[in-house]
Amino acid sequence: MCGIVGYIGKREAYPVLIKGLKRLEYRGYDSAGVALLNDKNNLRVYKTKGKVADLEQYAADKDTSGCIGIAHTRWATHGEPNSNNAHPHMSFSGDLAIIHNGIIENYAFLKKLLQQKGIKFNSNTDTEVLVQLIDYIRTKKKTDLLTAVRIALRAVIGAYAIAILDKNNPDQIIAARKSSPLVIGIGQDEFFLGSDASPIIEYTDKVIYLDDKDIAVITKGKPLDIVDINNEKTDHEVKTVDINISQIEKGGFPHFMLKEIFEQPDCLKDCMRGRINVEADNIVLSAIIDNRKHLINPRRIIIVACGTSWHAGLIGKLLIEDFCQIPVEVEYASEFRYSNPVINSQDVVIAISQSGETADTLAAIELAKKKGAFIYGICNAIGSSIPRATHTGSYIHVGPEIGVASTKAFTGQVTVLAMLALALGKERGTIDNMKYVKVINALSEIPAKMEHLLEQSDNIKDISRIFTYAHNFLYLGRGYNYPVALEGALKLKEISYIHAEGYPAAEMKHGPIALIDEEMPVVVVATKNILYDKVLSNIQEIKARHARVIAIVSEGDDTVRNLADAVIELPQTEECLEPLLASLPLQMLAYYIAVAKGKDVDQPRNLAKSVTVE
Ligand code: M6R
Repeated sequence: MCGIVGYIGKREAYPVLIKGLKRLEYRGYDSAGVALLNDKNNLRVYKTKGKVADLEQYAADKDTSGCIGIAHTRWATHGEPNSNNAHPHMSFSGDLAIIHNGIIENYAFLKKLLQQKGIKFNSNTDTEVLVQLIDYIRTKKKTDLLTAVRIALRAVIGAYAIAILDKNNPDQIIAARKSSPLVIGIGQDEFFLGSDASPIIEYTDKVIYLDDKDIAVITKGKPLDIVDINNEKTDHEVKTVDINISQIEKGGFPHFMLKEIFEQPDCLKDCMRGRINVEADNIVLSAIIDNRKHLINPRRIIIVACGTSWHAGLIGKLLIEDFCQIPVEVEYASEFRYSNPVINSQDVVIAISQSGETADTLAAIELAKKKGAFIYGICNAIGSSIPRATHTGSYIHVGPEIGVASTKAFTGQVTVLAMLALALGKERGTIDNMKYVKVINALSEIPAKMEHLLEQSDNIKDISRIFTYAHNFLYLGRGYNYPVALEGALKLKEISYIHAEGYPAAEMKHGPIALIDEEMPVVVVATKNILYDKVLSNIQEIKARHARVIAIVSEGDDTVRNLADAVIELPQTEECLEPLLASLPLQMLAYYIAVAKGKDVDQPRNLAKSVTVE
């Protein structure tokens, strides 16, 4: 969602801001803008619908001087994507420029109030209300900007990460956050701002993550000053970010998504490193050791997540129930947060999120916490809001995921869930030792098997070319592979805009079979496991209706090969780990179909990488 970049220091701000916006492009956006201030108190705002490249083109013949500036990529919520609604927004006096990520929920009420005071609005956004309110308070009460910001933020309901420039103060940026992420980079006599660390790491690895209701006064040549909404000073630890530039660049791949698909073997090694021992017969998760009393005997576990992370949660349920004999429910965070769940201190809530910033998942955590549950986070983005809101957790350690369609984060989440289920099952004595060691062994072999699978990418590319005609796809799987079918369908629809549905294979005859004809390809995960024969019958039923079948099969399966139109072979593994392998060809299939259709794979329309609003 919206991206924020800021700079104050000795460099020219404009190139830093543009580069920073490009680093945040992965978040998804529809317009971009920049505000620049020079030491002659000359505040200029340039903004346009479209990409950062369009902004660059628009500003090419304009004055971009100044060593202080803020910049933004907007993902439209209030008001259509156009240059008027793009950020930065100026206040009525022409003194203040603001950028904002989040939603001001009571904007309509505040707007009406300000309009009654004679203030005219230039956009349809909720953000403009905030800057007008701040300027109104500043001029009416004759206060300094910080005081006006504090008062205004107290009147605001909703989520925000903001940065404000004041024409009269070319040495200062004021930034604040609540429920939307904001990071300050600390350089030598310079500061950077970012929605995450990616626009900052090129210049410094020292960062401060702002907490909710923090307001930072960032002044050139002075130490950082952070207060809360009541003007009380707050302390922050300066953290070192462990991300390097190559992790956020394409490294020779045409798209981040393809790079991230191919990174998975290494990512999973990183994810397991230090957790699975060298003999591959034991797992140590520090979160379990440190929180034994909460985790060892819960009444039940509730998994909350959205999208792909929710699919990982479905696999987590099967793993935990199998190895730990604890009942598990999997909830969409967006539904859970508005339900009235029966939760108490005997429950454990596992929140799964790649970005660690998903608004619905954060709200679900807050609700569960209020009701007394113990919260375990499974996240990728280090230092993000969800790990900070949970009691404990495990990072998946797969490195920054830039492509909007989640790939390596999914397999990282499933890997952590598998390790969690195994370690907890061992502690509880609900998994026998032979099985425990066998599954750990198999888990440690997954990266090598993924490498082998990735060698089939040319075959999958060829298959994908045959299926670009389709307007609808059906994905089927059973047991552990049912969430794989859901995830495969989500990948395809996200990046190719082809409608796709995932179903448990046996449900096909309860409805979806009515859709099946020669126009509708069906992807079936038909590996040799306990339900193989039943899935085989499903394939026969599909073929009898003349649909084309793409089958994901176990190596050497000639029976399905003889029935299906296209076949992708998976190396053998434990059934519970098949999702780690079966999801790869489905990611590649979606990727190559989208590329063949000429779609913008890394930034699909309407989607955002971090969904920081409801
Ligand atoms: O960052 P999160 O894991 O919390 O994000 C949840 C979903 O928004 C995300 O998985 C989304 O479905 C992806 N675009 C899937 O590819």
